[in-house]
Amino acid sequence: MESNGKGGKLQVALVTGATSGIGKAVAIELASRGYRVYGTGRNPSQPGKADEHGIVFYPMDVLSETSVYETVKCVIANEQRLDVLVACAGMGIAGSVEDTAMSDADLQMRTNFLGTVLAVKGCLPQMRQQKQGKIVIIGSLAGRIGMPFQAFYSSSKFALEGFVESLRHEVKPFGIDVCIVEPGDFSTGFTAARKKSGTMGSPYSEAFQRTISIQEHDEMHGSDPQVAARAVAGILEKKKMPLRIVVGPVFQKFAAGLKRVIPAKWFELLYKLYYRL
Ligand SMILES: NC(=O)c1ccc[n+]([C@@H]2O[C@H](COP(=O)([O-])OP(=O)(O)OC[C@H]3O[C@@H](n4cnc5c(N)ncnc54)[C@H](OP(=O)(O)O)[C@@H]3O)[C@@H](O)[C@H]2O)c1
Repeated sequence: MESNGKGGKLQVALVTGATSGIGKAVAIELASRGYRVYGTGRNPSQPGKADEHGIVFYPMDVLSETSVYETVKCVIANEQRLDVLVACAGMGIAGSVEDTAMSDADLQMRTNFLGTVLAVKGCLPQMRQQKQGKIVIIGSLAGRIGMPFQAFYSSSKFALEGFVESLRHEVKPFGIDVCIVEPGDFSTGFTAARKKSGTMGSPYSEAFQRTISIQEHDEMHGSDPQVAARAVAGILEKKKMPLRIVVGPVFQKFAAGLKRVIPAKWFELLYKLYYRL
């Protein structure tokens, strides 16, 4: 195996959603630590060419099975191995359950949940053959705590929690380790890219506007994506990765812990007060 130039073995990493935010920061962090990094987005500017960090971008739309499998195939054809997958690609849809069209609910689940599943399925055969691999899934704190007016986003991230718990058991015998990283609020392109279903005149309109403005304010004043990137890189360096970790602002890490220890009705009351629901 090739050396990474830092006295270790060269590790090949694929980072989905590496054109922006957390995925971009993860790709740069891994490249700086000596990984050979392949990044993806739907329309990368210079596909197949290494950028200034040495990251090679390929197009990948996680809504398309062919696109995901073809890109993974390309990386493996180039490197004959694949050691790490960091699945970051995702987006958010907000609105009341009643106001959100089923086509948007479907898009949310296909992007965040099934899109991640596809990336994992694409990488598993190679990792299994190598008897070695590490998979980090970017979930969300919203996958531990149901966010008001983000029911479908939360559902897509809750789904990933169950997926990772199950997957870990299945792939451990093949030397593959899996971890879900749960970011709190980070200042990224996520807020501007969010799709909103706030029908004018809807009985939910006022509460939705109030809630989403608090949520978006928190995101825009959230942590730097580099914090998440360093956490992901740190986890990958561990011999055994934890099942899940929360990253982000301290009070949000506290909220995740609090949910585990206080009665559900108290936790619900805290959210109700915070969002003035
Ligand atoms: N920011 C936060 O506060 C926060 C909190 C918790 C969890 N997260 C999670 O962190 C992950 C990264 O989000 P971010 O905050 O870094 O947002 P971001 O800056 O908007 O980045 C999203 C990335 O996902 C890619 N993407 C979106 N739809 C895609 C599709 N259909 N196929 C392929 N790639 C797609 C985008 O690439 P292109 O647009 O170039 O295709 C982009 O690279 C997401 O899973 C998000 O749910 C974010």
